Order: sequence, then C-alpha cells, then structure tokens
Amino acid sequence: MNQPIMKGVAAINPPAYVKQQKLINWVADMAALTKPESIYWCDGSEEEYDRLCAEMVASGTMKKLNEAKRPNSYLACSDPSDVARVEDRTYICSAKKEDAGPTNNWMEPSEMRATLNPLFDGCMQGRTMYVVPFSMGPLGSHIAHIGVELSDSPYVAVNMRIMTRMGKAVYDVLGTDGAFVPCVHTVGAPLAAGQKDVAWPCNATKYIVHYPETREIWSYGSGYGGNALLGKKCFALRIASTMGRDQGWLAEHMLILGVESPEGKKHYIAAAFPSACGKTNFSMLIPPATFGGWKVTTIGDDIAWIKPHSDGRLYAINPEAGYFGVAPGTNEKTNFNCMASVRGNTIFTNVGLTDDGDVWWEGMTKEAPAHLIDWQGKDWSPEIAKETGRKAAHPNSRFTVAATQNPVLDAAWDDPAGVPISAFIFGGRRSTTVPLVTEARNWVEGVYMAATMGSETTAAAVGQMGVVRRDPFAMLPFTGYNVSDYFQHWLDMGKKIEASGAVQPSIYCVNWFRTDDNGKFVWPGFGDNMRVLKWMLERIEGSGKGVENIFGVTPEFSDLTWDGLDFSQQQFDTITSIDKAAWEAELKLHAELFEKLEYHLPVELEATRVALEKRLAS
Ligand code: OXD
Ligand code: MN
Repeated sequence: MNQPIMKGVAAINPPAYVKQQKLINWVADMAALTKPESIYWCDGSEEEYDRLCAEMVASGTMKKLNEAKRPNSYLACSDPSDVARVEDRTYICSAKKEDAGPTNNWMEPSEMRATLNPLFDGCMQGRTMYVVPFSMGPLGSHIAHIGVELSDSPYVAVNMRIMTRMGKAVYDVLGTDGAFVPCVHTVGAPLAAGQKDVAWPCNATKYIVHYPETREIWSYGSGYGGNALLGKKCFALRIASTMGRDQGWLAEHMLILGVESPEGKKHYIAAAFPSACGKTNFSMLIPPATFGGWKVTTIGDDIAWIKPHSDGRLYAINPEAGYFGVAPGTNEKTNFNCMASVRGNTIFTNVGLTDDGDVWWEGMTKEAPAHLIDWQGKDWSPEIAKETGRKAAHPNSRFTVAATQNPVLDAAWDDPAGVPISAFIFGGRRSTTVPLVTEARNWVEGVYMAATMGSETTAAAVGQMGVVRRDPFAMLPFTGYNVSDYFQHWLDMGKKIEASGAVQPSIYCVNWFRTDDNGKFVWPGFGDNMRVLKWMLERIEGSGKGVENIFGVTPEFSDLTWDGLDFSQQQFDTITSIDKAAWEAELKLHAELFEKLEYHLPVELEATRVALEKRLAS
C-alpha cells in the first residue's frame, strides 16, 4: 500500500509497519527543526518510483527519455555549481581533532551543531521530507547495516531506490530496537508560500558533516551524488570505516570482481582506485577474445565491506545495490557490459540530450551527434564544441543503474555471507614512475604501497584536475578517522589473518596510466587488463613467474600472455621501467606524507620506507 503524501506542517503519521519509536521520535525532531510542508515515508515500491519520477518530470527536474530508445529512463541536469563532491566542505566532527587526523576537515561537534542548527532551522519549508529507509548490503546480512535518510529531494529518494536496498522491508530488519545510522539531507532551499521552485534547488553554502562518535550524517546545500546520496560515501565509507575500526572490519573504496579460469578456478579480488579511474570498467571487463573460457563477473564497482570470517579469511559484500558511474568515456569498447546495463531503467545526470530524446556524452560514440542540448540546456554541436571547448556532458556526469541490469553480475553478488577475498589491488593514475604491476612481498609492504599511493586528480571532486596528490588506499576523501590509525588497522588485520592460520590475501599495486613521450597512454587497458589479472591469478595459484625488484615482484615480458595483442617488449619496458631518479623523488614525497601523518603513524611504514630507500641506493 502506498502512503499518501501528508500535507500540513510536520504531520508525522508513520505507517503501521514502522515499529521503532526511536526512529519515529527522530523523524519528529528533524521535522520540528526543518519544518517541511509534508512528510512522505518511502516504501520502495516500483509504483512509488514511477510516481516520484513523473512528478519530477512535471516539475522540470527530470526529462523522460524516448521510450523506444531508452525505456523507463530519465535525464536530470543539475545547477552548474553543483556537479561534484565538495571535499573542502566535508567534515569529520570527532570529539578530538587528532581522531579526524590531518587529512580531514574538522570542527568540534558542538561548534558544528551550533553552525548547522540555524541552517537546518526551516530549511525544508515548502518542501516534502522523504523518509528513506535503506540497507547497505543484503537485507539481514551480518555484514550489512541500516540507515535512514531524511531528504527534501525526490531526486535523492529515487536514486537511493536504485543505489541501496531501499523500502519497507528495511523496517522488518530494524524491528523495534535495531540500530540505524541517521542521515539528514537538505538541498538548503526553503520555499516561501507561493514561491516557484527551480529545476535543481541547492545552496551556495554546503556542509557535508559526519559525527563519527554518534554515527550521524548531516548534509546541507547540495543535491548531487556523493554529497546527497548519503548511503554511499558518507555512510558506506566515512561512517562505516569508523564502525570497522571499532568492530574489527574494513570499509573500502574498492570494486569487487570474480575471475574464473577455464579450469573453473575462481577467485574474488577487491581493487581500490581513486574516483573516476576506471573501477566500474575494471569490475565488468570482458577478457580479450583470445582468452577463451576466462570469465570476469561483478560483485561491486565502488565500495566493499570486508569482515573476517571464522575460517580466518576476509569476506566481502558490496554494500550498494546499483552503480553511480561516470558516463564520459564509457562506450561499447571501453565497457560493453556497462552500456548494456544502461540501455534502460537508468537515471542520467548531466549528460547531453539528443534531438531524438536519447543521451550522449563525450566518448560514447566515435561520431558525435550533429546537434544536441548540452547538460547546461544550451545548443551544442561538434562545431560549437570546437569553437568554445564546451562539453555536451559534464566530465563528472553520471548514470544511476541497478546492479541487476549488469549482464555479468556475479551469482553471489547478493549473498549475505559475502565472498572470500584472494587479493587486493591498489592503483593510481600516474603518467610516470609507477610500473604496470607489482606484487608486494608481504602484508606490510602491501600496506606501504597502498598507504603511499599517489594519483592525478579527476573531475569527481571539485578542484584542480591532473595534479598528483597522495591518496592512501584511494580513501583520502573517505577515511572517517585518523588515516595513521587506519593504516594501523590494516596492519592489525594482516596480523589477525596470519594468527588464524589462513592465507593472507596477496597485495598488488597497478598503474594502467603510464604515458609515452607524446603523452599517449601506452597500456591499452580495459579488457587487456585481463592479462595482468591472469598473471595475478597464476601467482595466487603458485604457478605465475616473476622477478623480484626493489619494490616487490613484477612479471617479465614473457610472464604475461600476449595472444591477440600487438605489444612489444619495448612498450612493455616503457611501462615497467623503474627510473632511479624518479623513485628517489617519489620516496621523498612518501617521507613528506609520513611527516604530515606523523601522529600514530605505524613504525613499520617508516621502516619500510627507509629499507626501500636503502635498496634503491645500493
Ligand atoms: C564516486 C566517487 O562517486 O568516488 O564513486 O566520487
Ligand atoms: Mn567512488
């Protein structure tokens, strides 16, 4: 049964299936503060999704795409100022500053509450507050956790239905006293009586705030992606990482894929890459045609929750139920399975609208349409683009699509027990210095590799693009506590696995992005990453060869399978060479990072750095 939208100031009226008084009281408190015109309890049904989308089409927030071209799909275009995560407005408000650490913005919790209270007071006036119950992870899984988001954005409500297990059934798991993470979100644009709304309400002032001790999330002023869909970065990474620290598990910015050999040997691998570095593509890759019988399947494309099991191994789930992926560059060649996933039932955000009511983004097809309406609502043609440099789609434009649309979804993707992890991969976007692939000799060196990872910045966050920044574990914007304590947590996890007698997952560092003297990528990437994956599997199984260098074990040219690819030894050398001077400089940057993270920095990491420096010098 659908719940009617209840008009009138803060009429709470929870549906009968909501049994938890604490939750109802919290909704009432938040309604008293934010003063919405009405409250709507989402049930997660298809009928509700369709209705909210239709309402947004009527209000101008979304456009319905041509049913024959892109069934049941929509395009939303944001305010041009609200297009990416706002890291400089993101806060970890732990009681002590050192618990947030030097990589997070911090404010004392009571000071932040005093800042936010006036902003939230009346912030939902004239709008509906949507009560969005969601489970991160399969409903009822011992690895999963529940959240409830209150938002004045219907765009958030429908995206959350795709990205999480959202709806009525969550209340059954929650019962009368189950725990949930309270998440409050507002676009920060109250409407006065009779005031006409805009297509994408938001506020120039933005706050994305986390209180790790009380496990609360408060988000103000943005309607976009990771700022607004609070199950994703805010809960599943920042708050969950603190839960993991306290409870002995890991919340990571990692895809999870299954890879199976023709002999039926299957392993699950979790891989961390910074935002917009190809995690979605990697998680759905199609092996080269010459790799007959090899299969890659997806568990998740962005986030992994990983818990130790009684057998001593680490088991992972994807806490999400959908993909909020970067559109530009995605095409039938780079990610066929993704293109198949978004053939229908998809919400697109900030891509171009073609004249026949479909979507287009840079890199989607070789030839651009002769004309379209760009993400800012302006006429666009290849000629206009040439003259002005204007893009049809914003570089951080996205698709939101359910995991179940993915043709290579792994059979165990929804398994409440999770899947056992055989290896971790860490990869940055580096045009120089870092070789194609290196296997860490041991857990501590693997943690060192991940901790010192650098990557050139992308459009996923507001700020300068293309500059190398240290992005430990690809978690720089997502670790909800002191990153040195986070490194310690990883080291402790390694010791725990070792003590249990289980085999520790192998750790690899990869770089798909090295360029030649002309600035062109040398490694073909995408499906050809299977060549590296196969080598890893062979290493895990004990048959793969490699040579030990200063940093770990790397394959020689002959150790990889080259069938079907014209790739020379010389090209291989270009992307695997270790330039001594570049590495001396790199290790100095690691030292600078460690100086910055000095508080609680595990001694093993500085010792590893010194040992590497010595090896490099000898
Ligand atoms: C994302 C990101 O949206 O990392 O996944 O920014
Ligand atoms: Mn991400």
